[in-house]
Amino acid sequence: MLGFRTWLKQSPVICPYTDSASGKNPTINSCWTKFLRQSRLFYGAALMIGFMLVLSTMFVNEHNFKDAFVNKLSGSLKDSVKEPCFLTKTHCSRGGAEALPRGIIVETSDLQFRSLSYEEESEVAESMPKNLLAMAVGIKQKKDVDEIVQKFPLTNYTIMLFHYDGVVDQWQDLPWSNQSIHIVGLHQTKWWFAKRFMHPDIIAQYNYVFLWDEDLGVEHFHADKYLEVMEAEGLEISQPALDPASADIHHALTRRQSSGRAHKMILRNRGSTICTRESNGPPCTGYVEVMAPVFSRAAWRCVWYMIQNDLVHGWGIDFKIGYCAQGVRSEKVGIIDAEYILHKGIPSLGGPRLNKTLEQEDVEKTFVKGKKHSPGKQSDLRREVRKRSGSEMLAFLRRWKTAAKRDHTWKDPYKVLNDSSGNYHRVR
Ligand SMILES: *[C@@H]1O[C@H](CO)[C@@H](O)[C@H](O)[C@H]1NC(C)=O
Ligand SMILES: *[C@@H]1O[C@H](CO)[C@@H](O)[C@H](O)[C@H]1NC(C)=O
Ligand SMILES: *[C@@H]1O[C@H](CO)[C@@H](O)[C@H](O)[C@H]1NC(C)=O
Ligand SMILES: *[C@@H]1O[C@H](CO)[C@@H](O)[C@H](O)[C@H]1NC(C)=O
Repeated sequence: MLGFRTWLKQSPVICPYTDSASGKNPTINSCWTKFLRQSRLFYGAALMIGFMLVLSTMFVNEHNFKDAFVNKLSGSLKDSVKEPCFLTKTHCSRGGAEALPRGIIVETSDLQFRSLSYEEESEVAESMPKNLLAMAVGIKQKKDVDEIVQKFPLTNYTIMLFHYDGVVDQWQDLPWSNQSIHIVGLHQTKWWFAKRFMHPDIIAQYNYVFLWDEDLGVEHFHADKYLEVMEAEGLEISQPALDPASADIHHALTRRQSSGRAHKMILRNRGSTICTRESNGPPCTGYVEVMAPVFSRAAWRCVWYMIQNDLVHGWGIDFKIGYCAQGVRSEKVGIIDAEYILHKGIPSLGGPRLNKTLEQEDVEKTFVKGKKHSPGKQSDLRREVRKRSGSEMLAFLRRWKTAAKRDHTWKDPYKVLNDSSGNYHRVR
């Protein structure tokens, strides 16, 4: 008790002042009364302030209140959704639609044409194709594109064409054209279109997505049979094998092996490429080229996120595409040999081909803005495009590296082993 009194006496908070009248230290008793009086005042004031705070939160500062309410709401929304939500807040909170009753929210869409007059919805739903073929096309490749599309029966495939040369009318005579989606974007590449018009929520109805170049020979290819193999092999990402007669085969992995219906890896000990049974990454396994990839719905969602808005050639994505395999990448990424294609090697670069003068102008406008080229110097131009593609690839791989370093929650699920996959396209 004595200790308490001494403390009380010395405490500057409770007895901060000397008695101004007498100039002496206050007695314990007077100090005690003062303390009580002060604390009554103190609690009163605190209560007052607290009350006002609550009031202001609820009525004056309505905004904060709304925020808290909305957060709680979106939290409960989030819980009831099947998929876990780990992306942006907008994505998780249904992008500001919390005020709507759940039943009215339509989160995804499709590319199905609808009749203007009344129609049976159930009929439409039944006739909806389950897969999508998307291609960037120019009228100069009309014949090739027609041949490709004919391998994709319209009952099972929606066709979406991206016209980089602005020509749409001249496709109308083809029987499938009027039932297909046509999108025009002058001088843009396949990846530019894909990022903008193939958002996973828009094409959510499709089981498989073909995102193809236009310079492919499909004599030995049938889409339905292809998907049968893809499904049977449990592949999430695939490409048809390349006919050995193809113009350029960049990686031995994608060359057709006539022995089986599909393969997922190669063994090789030649040149700079060493692939052993232990290899677990590109270019030995877990790799497809960007000219004719096929994605499952889940894999496409992942790849779509990976596409960078400003890197229009898509170079570099192929080295990381295995990260979207939805499992072990050496098992879920594969090359299908039973249905294979011929790469004709017209340098379209997912955009204009670099053959004639007119096309050359197109390319010039698109890819090498602000630089003058003497007409006819095709090789110069091609080199410029290659240069941009190459530096885009480096930019992409650098961004990946930076992102991996900064995201401390991220762990590389595909650590490369000590083979050529380890130093494959290493960036500093
Ligand atoms: C569409 O796909 C189904 C199986 O998914 C197949 O049975 C049918 O033959 C296909 N239709 C056409 C026209 O190929
Ligand atoms: C497609 O539609 C256009 C415009 O209505 C028409 O001129 C053309 O003949 C149609 N093509 C086919 C193959 O039906
Ligand atoms: C250029 O186009 C012509 C005709 O379209 C074709 O015969 C030729 O092979 C093409 N050349 C290259 C290098 O693509
Ligand atoms: C990787 O392999 C090379 C040659 O096969 C060998 O010289 C090197 O020591 C190996 N490095 C590690 C870390 O195992």
